[in-house]
Amino acid sequence: MTVNWAVTTYDSAFGYVSAHGAPLVDLLDPQPGERVIDLGCGTGTFSAEIAERGAEVLGIDGNPDMVAQATALHPGLSFIVGDAHDFTTSESFDAVASNAALHWMTRDPDQVIGQVHAALRPGGRFVGELGGAGNCAELIAAMQTAWRVFGLGEPELPWYFPSPAEYATKLEEGGFTLRLLEHADRPTRMTEGPGGAADWVRAYAGRALADVPPELVEPLLERVNDLAAPALRRESGWVADYVRLRFAAVRKPDGGASLLTGPTPTPASAPASAPTGPPPPGAPL
Ligand code: BEZ
Repeated sequence: MTVNWAVTTYDSAFGYVSAHGAPLVDLLDPQPGERVIDLGCGTGTFSAEIAERGAEVLGIDGNPDMVAQATALHPGLSFIVGDAHDFTTSESFDAVASNAALHWMTRDPDQVIGQVHAALRPGGRFVGELGGAGNCAELIAAMQTAWRVFGLGEPELPWYFPSPAEYATKLEEGGFTLRLLEHADRPTRMTEGPGGAADWVRAYAGRALADVPPELVEPLLERVNDLAAPALRRESGWVADYVRLRFAAVRKPDGGASLLTGPTPTPASAPASAPTGPPPPGAPL
């Protein structure tokens, strides 16, 4: 199911895009010379896409290993380690973008939105995609059932998958005007995890596995695969039941200035902190 919110106001402020399934960079529509933060940049793939459009990018990620890899892979770009909940910028940015990372920033999503707001100039854009309500529902259900069958406590799930209504409210209350919000299924081939749901749990739910007695890990993961297979294993391979929440918002003006014009951005000094979050594996179907 796809739900589109506010699509009628979707205009040249964000360039043209079919929001559903189109590259997120097209929704961001970075312009040459713009200053853009890639929040939760991981290894810098999305930052590089933004930079290819001529924008100046600062990638921020909470995981120093990711930042080291991003720096090695994209030596011409700027990356820093920082926490999305409390990074600061001394100058304003034109846009903050985030791809497949906001759902890892679970401590206080309102605070993350507040930091983004503070980093943007009035009229600046906040464009992102994260897991939405129902994301990985089959994978998570298989985990929870397997954990129960093995007599283990509830697995710790380190993600925030908001509903469109919840995230829309947060953005509006956080000082943004929402221009687009979509909630859509995006089944995704697990090309990097041929071992299926078990590989996915190993890659992304390490915290839950850390509490499992070592001798139970393999039989537990086999059970996860057995439970998830009817919904997620196809002849062509495993498919993750991803659900995306994609949005584009504009920072409300200070004191009644036009939404789409603001002070000319000036160079920013390095922000201080950020989040962590690997991109999802595999390719959309
Ligand atoms: C995702 O939706 O991108 C995702 C969610 C949880 C773990 C890994 C990826």
